[in-house]
Amino acid sequence: MGSYSYQSHAQKGILLNANESPYKPAPAILKEIQENITTLDLNRYPDNTYWKLREEYSKLQGLRPEQVLVGNGSDQMLGLFIGNLLGEKKIALSFSKDFSMYDYYISLYGGELVKYPIDPEVPFDLQDWIQTIETIDPDLILFSNPNNPTGLFLEKESIQKILEAFPERKILVDEAYVEFAPESALSLIDRYPNLYVTRTLSKAFGLAGIRLGFLLSDPKNIEWLQQRNVPYSVNRLSEFVALSALKHVDQIEPILKEIIDRRDCFLEFGKQLQKTTLYPSQANFILFRSKQLQAILRKMNEKGIQIRVFPNEDYARITIGSEQEMELAKEVFLEVEREI
Ligand SMILES: Cc1ncc(COP(=O)(O)O)c(C=O)c1O
Repeated sequence: MGSYSYQSHAQKGILLNANESPYKPAPAILKEIQENITTLDLNRYPDNTYWKLREEYSKLQGLRPEQVLVGNGSDQMLGLFIGNLLGEKKIALSFSKDFSMYDYYISLYGGELVKYPIDPEVPFDLQDWIQTIETIDPDLILFSNPNNPTGLFLEKESIQKILEAFPERKILVDEAYVEFAPESALSLIDRYPNLYVTRTLSKAFGLAGIRLGFLLSDPKNIEWLQQRNVPYSVNRLSEFVALSALKHVDQIEPILKEIIDRRDCFLEFGKQLQKTTLYPSQANFILFRSKQLQAILRKMNEKGIQIRVFPNEDYARITIGSEQEMELAKEVFLEVEREI
């Protein structure tokens, strides 16, 4: 049994701590749920192949349903991948920092996680990373792209170089936030059978509550993992809401644009700050470092704003919320600037 335990996050107040969407699902989706709730066969188990969902998601991504597996959030897909592809005492390579659930699952399954340090103040050095992979010789490589929490984004070309350099290694790219970024690595799946990509409806689609995620890879990999997946991991209600959201995907576009614009405005605002540095981000959150972090956290707390803090670090992460929420957050940064 691993030693890493998962920390739940606060769910009261102004929630800028878990990179969720500030908005409820679109009215068209809510209407469809309302109109169909009584006719859903909730007395029946769902279709365990989740074929319809795989068809719809693959269509959206220009893939085939055989290349898609659905799960109870991308978390569950990460657990399935790590649990089946990383044996005990085997080595996985990721970044520091990266998504904490990698630590959780790798420790749970008895593997070892080595972390390649990334610093938002230093440009990412692909060659150095490739050399590190050669030295560490990991059994698998996994990382979020855009990176949570730094916001660092590796272009498709860089990911392709890694896939080319290490064709024998399994490489998982966690694209939980990719809709906020310029491009995805998904199209590489047809050419690189060692590539695995995870996706989610929790972030850009604003459906964290239904717990719906995807694992995308070569059909042989998907079939192999499907056989090892827990049956019925997605319930009928979530399946229905997910299908409805995919049908109304056009509703997501304006929200995405709004969040991206607000993120970029917030970064622009950050340039005037002397005591705090906001780091560029291609996701729906921003990492910031401040000598006055404690004062910022205190003021956030006074205004009921929850953000993500990291124990013993001088940085924190703030999710891009609604306009009003971000105005409140700006006030905090400005008040701290004015303090002597
Ligand atoms: C990088 C990353 N991957 C995966 C997830 C999990 O997403 P899901 O809600 O699909 O389980 C998160 C959630 O915060 C995340 O930050």
